[in-house]
Amino acid sequence: MADLAVRPMTPDDADRVLAIYQAGLDGGNASFETAAPTWAAFDAGKLADHRLVAVDADEALIGWVAVSPTSTRAVYAGVVEHSVYTDPAAQGRGAGRLLLDAMIASTEAAGIWTIQSGVFPENAASLTLHQRAGFRIIGTRERVGRHHGRWRDVILLERRSPTIT
Ligand SMILES: CC(C)(COP(=O)(O)OP(=O)(O)OC[C@H]1O[C@@H](n2cnc3c(N)ncnc32)[C@H](O)[C@@H]1OP(=O)(O)O)[C@@H](O)C(=O)NCCC(=O)NCCS
Repeated sequence: MADLAVRPMTPDDADRVLAIYQAGLDGGNASFETAAPTWAAFDAGKLADHRLVAVDADEALIGWVAVSPTSTRAVYAGVVEHSVYTDPAAQGRGAGRLLLDAMIASTEAAGIWTIQSGVFPENAASLTLHQRAGFRIIGTRERVGRHHGRWRDVILLERRSPTIT
């Protein structure tokens, strides 16, 4: 992890970000989605802040994290949902954890109090990563959506900031 760093995502990162997104979707356990969005759709769906990428010692982009609002209601203004993806060739090197920790710090500094995510039960790497980073399991939504024609469960996780009171 010593050779990895985190920096803000820029529009120049679009192709790499979307390629890593697609590789994660192709793995079959990241999301109900099967195709990465266009950059325009990605850009419109994510908050402009808290978009981060992980780079290796050669400045190669190996992962990203971004957050979306969960609701238009004022009461939930500090509740976001995030996505985190690491290049399959660079997984297990700490990039996911680095990205989550940086995103937690960035959102907390902006007054966001809850970060949530839905994870397939089969996604052991993501479940481990999130629990190590301080997320707790809320529960399991059973057969909540179809993925390639198959009903799948989703485990809901959240991290409530201990510092925003
Ligand atoms: C989930 C994902 C982002 C993890 O990224 P990563 O860069 O490999 O994660 P890290 O190297 O930081 O590892 C984080 C923790 O998960 C653990 N982990 C990694 N792969 C694992 C696996 N296959 N099974 C169990 N634990 C695993 C690591 O040991 C580490 O725990 P530790 O700190 O106790 O050692 C990555 O696997 C990925 O991009 N998957 C496809 C997309 C996806 O599923 N995204 C999440 C959608 S909810």
